[in-house]
Amino acid sequence: MIDYEGFLSRAGARMQESAIRRMGTVLAQKQDIISFAPGYPAPETFPWYEFQEIARELLTGTDGSVLQYGPTRGFRPLLETIEIIMASRGIATSHERLLITTGSQQGLDLVARVLLDPGDVVLVELPTYTGAITAFRNVQAEMVGVQQESDGIDLTHLDEVWTRLARDNRRIRLLYVVPNFQNPTGLLIGLEKRRLLLDWASRRNLLILEDDPYRELFFEDSATEADVRPIRADDREGRVIYLSSFSKTLAPGYRVAWIDAPGPLAAKFEMAKQAEDLLTGSLDQRIVYEACRRGVLQRQLPLLRRHYRYKRDVMIEALRRGLGDDVSWPEPRGGFFLWVTLPPAIDADRMIPRAVGHGVIYVAGEAFFVNGTGGTNIVRLSFSAPSPDRIRAGATRLALTVRGELDALRARGKTAAAPARPVQS
Ligand SMILES: Cc1ncc(COP(=O)(O)O)c(C=O)c1O
Repeated sequence: MIDYEGFLSRAGARMQESAIRRMGTVLAQKQDIISFAPGYPAPETFPWYEFQEIARELLTGTDGSVLQYGPTRGFRPLLETIEIIMASRGIATSHERLLITTGSQQGLDLVARVLLDPGDVVLVELPTYTGAITAFRNVQAEMVGVQQESDGIDLTHLDEVWTRLARDNRRIRLLYVVPNFQNPTGLLIGLEKRRLLLDWASRRNLLILEDDPYRELFFEDSATEADVRPIRADDREGRVIYLSSFSKTLAPGYRVAWIDAPGPLAAKFEMAKQAEDLLTGSLDQRIVYEACRRGVLQRQLPLLRRHYRYKRDVMIEALRRGLGDDVSWPEPRGGFFLWVTLPPAIDADRMIPRAVGHGVIYVAGEAFFVNGTGGTNIVRLSFSAPSPDRIRAGATRLALTVRGELDALRARGKTAAAPARPVQS
């Protein structure tokens, strides 16, 4: 028997499957489970017919470049389209700054590889997106968490954390934030705070990595274009590396996203991407480009905003009906997620087998915390993919799960807050 562990690099040995992907294994084991776990877009919103038309036209065999290798930076007309999309978000950019990536996940990976050495510090929100945790962990960076308030990252805590690390002579490279409808909390960073964050990064001389996949999905009852203005839009110094994606607006299966970064960094990301995959799929880029050119994306956006807002409302109503005031959440003004705090005695990770028994699954909150503790009695629920009926049924199942867990804890005389368990970051 070969000991493959012995062959792993130090970075390889530290790699871990993300908690959300792990849920996929749980799902595969059981039929008829209602999943609130992954942040998948609603398949019923995909513009199937338009995609069919576009793909048929592209695949007539008259234009070889559709299936050919192409420039690493991306398909030029798509880059030009992205410039227009960026302008609509208040961002002036240019070709030298842009790179099409295989999902924003690749953007995270490229930034991590190009900017971080083992032991370097990345400041992240508490909680933060697990895919970013994976990318930073893979290059052996150290993540240090900064608390959030109802309007996003806590600037006072941010500076305290920075000061402590600087005193210890740590190399602090990057602040990673998801300002719009954050994954997992759904929170929005306040507008004034965004500007203060830029000033702060300038004073402390570090770069901001702004990850913005949910920006278009604001719910018009409570948020507007103005609320989702990217931090990058007010960046005059070149401090912000900006990521965005077509995953949540067109379809994630195309894996088409982009990085906008200062020219010298964009050139490095391009070199790193050459080693990873040479370029993002040519056909995917062409389909996405055509969908933009023909107005499909523009037509999708208002539909998506209404659709996800409706699903959010269905989930909130169903949870209120099932669990009353035993649960709470910040009401998301956009995006895919409800960040639900359960009664303090509950350990959401330990409750998973009971939830699966009742036919429902979620992501336990602690997966999103990098500092070892937190989120024990919190679950992230995605309302994006399941149908409204399944959201209602899933909420009922979740309520049964929580009630059952509380009964079991009472029977064992444990109704105090669950002790925070150390989690790996
Ligand atoms: C905050 C955040 N960043 C990045 C991604 C990755 O998106 P993509 O499909 O473009 O790789 C996601 C996907 O869920 C996300 O929530």
